[in-house]
Amino acid sequence: MSNKLFIETLGCAMNVRDTEHIIAELNKHDDYTTTTNVEEADLIIINTCSVREKPVAKLFSELGQFKKKRKNGAKIGVCGCTASHLGKDIIKRAPYVDFVVGARNVSKISNAVKNKGTVEIDINYDETAYEFSEYRNSLYKASINISLGCDKQCSFCIVPATRGDEISIPADIILNEVKKSVDTGAKEIFLLGQNVNNYGKRFSASEEKYTFTKLLQEISKVEGVERIRFTSPHPLHMDDEFIEEFATNPKICKSIHVPLQSGSTQILKDMKRGYTKEWFLNRCERIKSKVPDVRISTDIIVAFPGESDEDFADTMDVVEKVKFDQIFNFKYSPRPNTSAATMEQIPDEIGTKRLSHLIEVHKEHQNEHMASNVGKTMKVFFEDLKPNGEIMGFSDNYIQVFVQGSEELLGQILEVKIISASRTSLKGKILS
Ligand code: SAH
Ligand code: F3S
Repeated sequence: MSNKLFIETLGCAMNVRDTEHIIAELNKHDDYTTTTNVEEADLIIINTCSVREKPVAKLFSELGQFKKKRKNGAKIGVCGCTASHLGKDIIKRAPYVDFVVGARNVSKISNAVKNKGTVEIDINYDETAYEFSEYRNSLYKASINISLGCDKQCSFCIVPATRGDEISIPADIILNEVKKSVDTGAKEIFLLGQNVNNYGKRFSASEEKYTFTKLLQEISKVEGVERIRFTSPHPLHMDDEFIEEFATNPKICKSIHVPLQSGSTQILKDMKRGYTKEWFLNRCERIKSKVPDVRISTDIIVAFPGESDEDFADTMDVVEKVKFDQIFNFKYSPRPNTSAATMEQIPDEIGTKRLSHLIEVHKEHQNEHMASNVGKTMKVFFEDLKPNGEIMGFSDNYIQVFVQGSEELLGQILEVKIISASRTSLKGKILS
């Protein structure tokens, strides 16, 4: 009989992919099936995020719950960024935890499960040439890592301390993974890295010369690939060549994440982001002028240390000018081992006020954007059947679209006429 695995994933798209790798790796050596019921699990894993304080605090309360609910003999493991960051302190604080495996050590998971007390948290461990076996949550979409770690050292960010230095995965390994994914039914490829458009900066073994633009071109040549997405690019590396490829390659989805963080050039400098407000605006304008239907999302941090009313007004100015389709907004959260944590902090009430103002303005923009889609025809890739009988898919510029339909639509890309809009999704009718 197979073992039952309960795995909870917190955080970003890369953590979601790491979870797929964990499942693939466990199944390479033993037989596991996943369960959503923690009480019947033989193995319980939390794949953690440490980018802000909240998910870290959640980890220990969750662990306590799992300890109470678990069946006799079930093991508990902690993986991901908080594993890298807290290491053996997790076992000190929660001695019933059997093993700790960091975000850069996933290939060691099977061994860790079998050896109580294992702590594998080498953040510069080189997994770039390690070929994980195939496992993915979706039949139609495949997430593929193209680089590990990050060299950027943004002053607020803990990621370089949990995922190590940036190393690109060799292009032949990526292309091979793309081919395997397509052969097993994937039509959409989602490329992942902390800084995808810096791809090719450093490989661990070869002197290969490669750019992200070239990688996009090579992937789009693979037969069967219909859509390509990626996250996250860095505004600093959005050169004209990259924007041209994004605009003209028909396989690349016309939705892009351009993480702003702040609209104030001084705060951007303090954050060590490497670009100015003007550069950011210029890149967004260029993208919009070349791709009229583009959907731009962003990340914004409010109340970074030293952020004055004028600095925040600069952020709002960028928000008004770009009118982002989606904003992931965060109140600054001081993180250990980051230089911003030792700067003078902004009172919490100010952060809360700025955040709610940003959310209000952004809601208006979202309503405007979404309403403007009514009457348009979009190509929708259907991927999920909802309990109410609706079929859900994503447009080429990555808006969620619902239609009435049945299971045969799943995995198909079809033309849809949009008939109504809410702030977060559209409803449409299939054109036959
Ligand atoms: N390279 C990744 C960044 C990962 S962190 C990317 O560009 O997506 C994801 C987001 O979390 C960041 O873009 C930032 O907006 C937010 N973030 C990171 N550290 C933070 C902190 N200390 N406080 C608040 N938000 C933070
Ligand atoms: Fe973090 Fe900046 Fe890298 S946000 S992941 S240090 S690009």
